[in-house]
Amino acid sequence: MSASGGPSHMPDGSSEPVAGAAGGGCDAGRVSIVITNIGELVTNDPGLGEDALGLLRDAAVVIDGGTVAWVGPTERAPAADEQYDAAGRAALPGFVDSHAHLVFAGERAEEFAARMSGRPYTAGGIRTTVARTRAASDDDLRANLRRLVDEMARQGTTTVECKSGYGLSVEQEERSLRIAAETVDEVTFLGAHVVPPEYADDPGGYVRLVTNEMLAACAPHARWVDVFCEDGAFDADQSREILTAGMRAGLTPRVHANQLGPGPGVRLAVELGAASADHCTHLTDADVDALASAATVATLLPGVDFSTRQPYPDARRLIDAGATVALATDCNPGSCYTSSMPFCIALAVRDLRMTPAEAVWAATAGGARALRRDDVGRLTPGARADVLVLDAPSHIHLAYRPGVPQVAAVWKAGRRVQA
Ligand code: NIG
Ligand code: FE
Repeated sequence: MSASGGPSHMPDGSSEPVAGAAGGGCDAGRVSIVITNIGELVTNDPGLGEDALGLLRDAAVVIDGGTVAWVGPTERAPAADEQYDAAGRAALPGFVDSHAHLVFAGERAEEFAARMSGRPYTAGGIRTTVARTRAASDDDLRANLRRLVDEMARQGTTTVECKSGYGLSVEQEERSLRIAAETVDEVTFLGAHVVPPEYADDPGGYVRLVTNEMLAACAPHARWVDVFCEDGAFDADQSREILTAGMRAGLTPRVHANQLGPGPGVRLAVELGAASADHCTHLTDADVDALASAATVATLLPGVDFSTRQPYPDARRLIDAGATVALATDCNPGSCYTSSMPFCIALAVRDLRMTPAEAVWAATAGGARALRRDDVGRLTPGARADVLVLDAPSHIHLAYRPGVPQVAAVWKAGRRVQA
């Protein structure tokens, strides 16, 4: 093989492909795959290629088992057990959807139609889904969750976060998280989604339930604790109490913040060192400053603003101030029933004032940042082998051709999951 061309990188950090690491086959029981002729490869490592996306041209990726073993120019790619010819198409890390609510039953199409006729979105609709979810069997919830995760995979998503929040009792929240943990990568306890009807006259009693018995039952199934900090849901003091109880139980906070109006959610997220403040639709200068000076990621969910006819968050303002931005779907039956990261990327470019490169970064590396994961959202040696080959020559087409199916092939942890 020629030694010319751009950089190539092995897991040991050396700059040359090493025979045996991926070449000539695989270790016992592991299959290696070489994806060749990638017209444009998004690595998300600026040290490997052009710009923030670390773009490589005429590239190849070698997968060994579930891991990326090598990236570099096609003409220097080591041999592998199997080959996939990308024929000049673009490839990127599978999308990291860091915010979704997938354990639920039923849907709310009528509520959406009413909204499109002028009725505003409120948190109250959540209780409709709570009633349907409580009445559903484990198998029905499991089947609906898997249907949605498959739908996501068909659109290039390989890492999924999922919250509880449609059970709102000790048993129902525990079962939601148990079912979520069977299927998704990241699980979040959202017992504090809204106050359920049986506690309507005693919201303080519900906060006590969430922070005691419910948390004890749920913490073993989750990595994260979340709260809907908003008028109509939980105020700043209640949210702080719930998040800090979760932190004492070993969970890391993330916050539904500033979705329906300005409020304390973003600053609370920063105060508590949350991994992410999600929505960020209504931000003051102080909120932007707080996010810009913190590790808390601003996770923007433009599908929600689309589906609730809200103004869009201003990603440009956040990025220019120095905040880290992620994009996610928020897939749920109420405020946003899309599972499509490409749709969110297109909205982000058109309406949140992101460049195509920023939006693709936010939907991959940004999501990984929001989940504090360094094994996904990048295509570099040692990463999980989550590869999305587009039926397009560049990442720009994700926003340039909105609504068009452009997924040619998807691997998750080295296993072909799509096409
Ligand atoms: O992220 N904001 C709170 N929760 C969801 C909506 C849930 C629903 O309407 O069912 C959200 O938008
Ligand atoms: Fe949400």
